[in-house]
Amino acid sequence: MNQRRRRIYEGKAKILYEGPEPGTVVVHFKDDATAYNAEKKAVIEGKGVLNNRISEFIFERLNDLGLPTHFVKRLNMREQLVREVEIIPLEVIVRNIAAGSMAKRLGIEEGTALPRSIIEFCYKNDELGDPLIAEEHITAFGWASPQEIDDIMAMTIRINDFMSGMFAAIGIKLVDFKIEFGRQYEGDLVRTVLADEISPDSCRLWDMKTNEKMDKDRFRRDLGGLVEAYQEVARRLGILNENDHGKPAKPTLVKS
Ligand code: TMP
Repeated sequence: MNQRRRRIYEGKAKILYEGPEPGTVVVHFKDDATAYNAEKKAVIEGKGVLNNRISEFIFERLNDLGLPTHFVKRLNMREQLVREVEIIPLEVIVRNIAAGSMAKRLGIEEGTALPRSIIEFCYKNDELGDPLIAEEHITAFGWASPQEIDDIMAMTIRINDFMSGMFAAIGIKLVDFKIEFGRQYEGDLVRTVLADEISPDSCRLWDMKTNEKMDKDRFRRDLGGLVEAYQEVARRLGILNENDHGKPAKPTLVKS
């Protein structure tokens, strides 16, 4: 690994380094897991590698659909190259089935199918614990413009439609997920693009038949088997084959 590159930012699960060209950034996926605003922490070996691969897979499919994202290419097992963006300070949550904080807040039993998909916004601020906000707050405080909110809503609906179908095809229910957007500056133009990651850390994924959890709730709720669950998601997506565990392969002797 190149130790001389400049570290731009270290978050809970990722490190950002300056990229090889101006306007690019290298994202490094760590094995660190946190929950409840980092009150609960652990290192889960193999998680970063799996999230890098799964997020690459989803972002590439979205790029193929013409949906603008920051993703350029995967560099190695733990890192990917992305375009530099200014992160819009919003966590955009899409819910198809009641679970987690919404189930608790509104007293709805977890697992209840929602009459329609619901999009929620949280203000991205760790000190405040990413509070739930309304569109009114976003425009009043200037966190995003009305045009950006329109773009975000339109892209979010497309992403949910695509991902719900993609996961249904491999026997997984997309219960909910969180995404983030950024501003990509191109000369005088600003484009809203999908940024951050999409992985079992940022989604709730339940097995279609058994409702078994295949996401970070395995860590949040002390269920164990997180890496195995993420491996199963990767295997069903066709990213890992039966004998690949998402860990770097041991060196093999090459005979000349
Ligand atoms: P919630 O039910 O805890 O609000 O979470 C909704 C979805 O958003 C769930 O798929 C997990 C994801 N999420 C994150 O990716 N990061 C976060 O900080 C939070 C609170 C949720």
